[in-house]
Amino acid sequence: MSKKTIGIVVGSLRRDSFCKKVAYTLSRFLEEQFDIKLIDIFDLALYSEDLDNDSNMPPEWKRLRQDVKALDAVLFVTPEYNRSMPAVLKNALDVASRPYGANNWSGKPGAVISVSPGSMGAFGANHHLRQVASFLNIFMMQQPEAYIGGIADAVDADGVCNEKLQGFFTAIRGCFCRLGEQVYFLNGEGLQ
Ligand code: FNR
Repeated sequence: MSKKTIGIVVGSLRRDSFCKKVAYTLSRFLEEQFDIKLIDIFDLALYSEDLDNDSNMPPEWKRLRQDVKALDAVLFVTPEYNRSMPAVLKNALDVASRPYGANNWSGKPGAVISVSPGSMGAFGANHHLRQVASFLNIFMMQQPEAYIGGIADAVDADGVCNEKLQGFFTAIRGCFCRLGEQVYFLNGEGLQ
């Protein structure tokens, strides 16, 4: 059976983003078992219903919707902006949730890892994202909760170098796989 595909959506556009480093390390942890697709959201126009028709739709929206639809599961790695998720991530969630009745996120297992250089680990962003994911019918991993604080001390040029954090990623991988098994079991598909 072919490998399942996990998409990783990063809620930061910053070149040297901590979240990008976390996402890169997570993808290394998962790539033996899964195909990993990094979902591009950097060039998405802001959502407007005026553009959401065959004549006006930005090609980047179409690409995102196709990319998301094709995923078997999705991981979000996000910073916190003013105790919420960054607008660029909310916009991507909105764009791929439409047109009405064709929510491309629906039914997928998901998880959020929130990241901050501060000590609180972006709790607010994590839970705002969970609220939206609930409405979008993404089956979010409940435990372990992943609030990663003090990230600046845990990364180097190659990604996450902190061994304790790497151990946490192993735990996340195990729980995320179990969630995937449950969701696909219920869908009657089974997981390879
Ligand atoms: C922040 N930052 C921030 N951090 C945090 O822990 N809680 C917060 O509410 C905020 N708010 C906030 C708002 C705005 C507009 C910016 C630009 C930044 C700091 C943020 O965590 C920091 O810039 C991270 O480095 C952003 O993540 P990336 O880009 O490194 O992945």
